[in-house]
Amino acid sequence: MRLFYEIPVHAPWSAHIMKRGIMHSLGFIYRRFLKKLLFCFNPESVHVSAIRFGERLGESRIARKTISGVTGIQYPELSQNVSGIHFSNPVGLAAGFDYEARLTRIAPCLGFGFETVGTITNMPCEGNDPPRLGRLVRSRSLMVNKGFRNPGIDCILEKFKNTEFSFPVGISIGQTNSAGIATIEQAQFDIVSAFEKAEQSQAPFSYYELNISCPNLRGNISFYDPEYFHSLLNAVCASNLTKPLWIKMPIDKSDHEIGSLLRVVSDHPVSAVIFGNLQKNKQDPSLVREEVMKFPKGNFSGKPTERRSNELIRLAYHFPGRTFAIIGCGGIFSAEDAYRKIRLGANLVELITGIVFDGPQLIGEINRGLAALLRRDGYASLGQAVGTLR
Ligand SMILES: Cc1cc2nc3c(=O)[nH]c(=O)nc-3n(C[C@H](O)[C@H](O)[C@H](O)COP(=O)(O)O)c2cc1C
Repeated sequence: MRLFYEIPVHAPWSAHIMKRGIMHSLGFIYRRFLKKLLFCFNPESVHVSAIRFGERLGESRIARKTISGVTGIQYPELSQNVSGIHFSNPVGLAAGFDYEARLTRIAPCLGFGFETVGTITNMPCEGNDPPRLGRLVRSRSLMVNKGFRNPGIDCILEKFKNTEFSFPVGISIGQTNSAGIATIEQAQFDIVSAFEKAEQSQAPFSYYELNISCPNLRGNISFYDPEYFHSLLNAVCASNLTKPLWIKMPIDKSDHEIGSLLRVVSDHPVSAVIFGNLQKNKQDPSLVREEVMKFPKGNFSGKPTERRSNELIRLAYHFPGRTFAIIGCGGIFSAEDAYRKIRLGANLVELITGIVFDGPQLIGEINRGLAALLRRDGYASLGQAVGTLR
């Protein structure tokens, strides 16, 4: 007799229904019971434990196979080539969840089509002072004040050296969060140094994300002035990158400011832009006031990022003479949320907060839901749905 995880995707409908039932039950258990328990503990401790648990599962062949059988189901209509890379599905793990590249074995089994590790910096960083994470349950959001707590690029490249990835893995690179970096020139030098190390390493990762939009670093250095951004991209691209470059964009800028940044992007060999990063504006109506007031520091993920992320995906998709692909990120909690971003113009999507609130099986649910939505709307492939919402 076959174990359920050995049932192939083209198996009869009864097998599909069984897998769907298991996924549904896992979702029910997470949302009803496990989340309530986890949310009783310190968010950063839960995050650290979840990463360790995920890493352990990833080391076990049986666990990988079992989990893949339920949540890692492939839907050929969701596959695409973006930035010259093949993606088996469009749902990625966004930067900020796996700073130490511990989940690269288990993430594809959960159904992720790709993962961004980091943000990683040239030098190791302790990050900001605690609290670095908080929960805003009614706002469906997380307070983030991590400040790039990461082991540094040398450590990650060393780890990547002898690794084979079964899906595309990218490295998010940002400025070292240190009091020693006080000027824009120092910040640029620091970022470019990390890119140069990554290029020299020949590690088998697939793409770069340049994070210019972290809102909680010391020193308040910013590359949002188009002149500085231009200079940074010139310097990064002068390293003759052998892998595609994506830019993680802010969402807390006006359409005009984003337009100026996109013009700079268009002048460089940038393959994709990601909209976008965290919500800085505590007055945003999607944030429940009593919840936000508990957090004097930090910025916000999840639902409060969704509206502006969607507006900027639309803006970028219609950017005159557009030369780049778009990756949608912010407030994805369901297949419908992901599909809206795709129909607004995103080729790929990324998320974090949705899995914290709805459980790791969410990725399988989103992939299954996306395949159903494509079928409902008469699209033979995901690529056909991109940018169809005016
Ligand atoms: C705990 C946490 C840490 C994050 N750290 C980073 C980071 O290091 N680099 C980055 O580019 N984005 C970071 N982000 C932002 C996410 O990548 C993403 O842009 C944002 O959370 C919106 O997506 P979501 O609503 O699906 O969480 C972080 C988000 C969270 C929740």
